[in-house]
Amino acid sequence: MEAQPVIKEVLKKVKPSKKEEEHEITLAEKIKETLEKALPKNYSARITGSVAKGTFLKNSADLDIFILVPKNVKKEKLPEIVKTAVKKAFPKNKNEVKYAEHPYVRLYGFDRKVDIVPAYDITFIEERASAVDRSILHTGYIKGKIKDWQKDEVRLLKQFLKVHDLYGAEIRVQGFSGYLCELLIIKYGDFISLLKSACNWSFPIAIDIEKYYQSDKEIVERFRTQNITVVDPVDKNRDVSAIVSDEVIYRFIVIARKFIRKPSKTFFERKEFDSRRVKSYLKRHANLFSLSFNKPEIVDDILWGQLRKLGKRIVKYLEDNDFTILDYHIRCRKNKVVILLESLEKELPNKIPVMGPQIIFEKHVEAFKKVHRNSVLFIKNGRMIATEDRRIMKFENALKEFIKNGKDLPCYLQKNIKNSKISSKADLGILKEYFFWRKVFRE
Ligand code: CTP
Ligand code: MG
Repeated sequence: MEAQPVIKEVLKKVKPSKKEEEHEITLAEKIKETLEKALPKNYSARITGSVAKGTFLKNSADLDIFILVPKNVKKEKLPEIVKTAVKKAFPKNKNEVKYAEHPYVRLYGFDRKVDIVPAYDITFIEERASAVDRSILHTGYIKGKIKDWQKDEVRLLKQFLKVHDLYGAEIRVQGFSGYLCELLIIKYGDFISLLKSACNWSFPIAIDIEKYYQSDKEIVERFRTQNITVVDPVDKNRDVSAIVSDEVIYRFIVIARKFIRKPSKTFFERKEFDSRRVKSYLKRHANLFSLSFNKPEIVDDILWGQLRKLGKRIVKYLEDNDFTILDYHIRCRKNKVVILLESLEKELPNKIPVMGPQIIFEKHVEAFKKVHRNSVLFIKNGRMIATEDRRIMKFENALKEFIKNGKDLPCYLQKNIKNSKISSKADLGILKEYFFWRKVFRE
């Protein structure tokens, strides 16, 4: 199929109708006005995010309302100010103070996610006191720059990324933020052109829409770009793609190639991985192990920061013990954290070779023999080799050791990890997600 008919079809599903769009904006305005009435003098509220920019997905159910705080108000006072205002404006609705890098209040009861976020009222980036304050400038920039028809291109991109777990700047995903999607569309013009270009990206890539820098080279040196840097049009010292992980970028390229080769609307639909295929894969070649423990009650971004660290440490520990880790995957389910690890080996041989010196160096050879006095010695290609007993052979035991002795475990997880369960089985739902993530390279 051609790309254009596919896109037309997909837009019917992801683009809100005129009526839905109006409804969303009216609701946002109503919340904004009610909130504004509850605010002290000199404060105002503003609709930001994708509803303000006109780039939200149908059924996205996500409103971002900012409280603009005068510059002389102390940062420490922000949580209290927002909480008081929200309580006063919406006494009947449940609310909850949350912290990302910044405090905000989540307001419930509107059938959608409503975030009330305090930010300083700034006009120039030089006045910025916190990262959130940029958001207001971002909204203004996109509104002034994006053409009406490009808003649909942003929607296509968001949906495409969402389906493949590549959308969202939170630590759990480390993917593309809404703002990054908008900038990429502004840069490349439309969804297909972006994808076509991504098929041939050769790193490092530098994108500087407002041309703050003389050359790509200057950007690459300034940001130490490994794969991609997108200079923030409202702040030339910031890379909008900084949070995006390498893995997300690589996956994006692989999936873009697949779509360009054979466009289909399946790229925009999350289909569950077939149970039979999971079973057949497991039978054929997977040495899968799962480690599960209770999820600590901490903010998502902190939890995921720690889980990512933990994942890396487990893999390093296993690799230091000679296991070949092919892939690993971290998932949260209800109150549990599950880490899936796929290894080439279930069990390693009971002996381990230790390379020694070249036999022409007599002194070294004698010393080597002394150290390995109880082991069998060989000469291979002119070098000494000793075989020693391997300490850990079974994958499962290596994991157990890690849990028992693992050093520098992320602090919020320490206690919970000690009570982990190790198994060579995993929940089918998690396996399906794991294989959905993996299948990218095959089909
Ligand atoms: N934001 C924030 N704190 C929140 C929610 C949002 O600081 N609790 C800010 C983000 O930094 C971003 C803006 O509000 O600049 C909008 O965030 P988000 O909803 O993630 O992106 P959108 O552009 O609205 O995209 P969409 O909702 O369509 O995913
Ligand atoms: Mg939003």
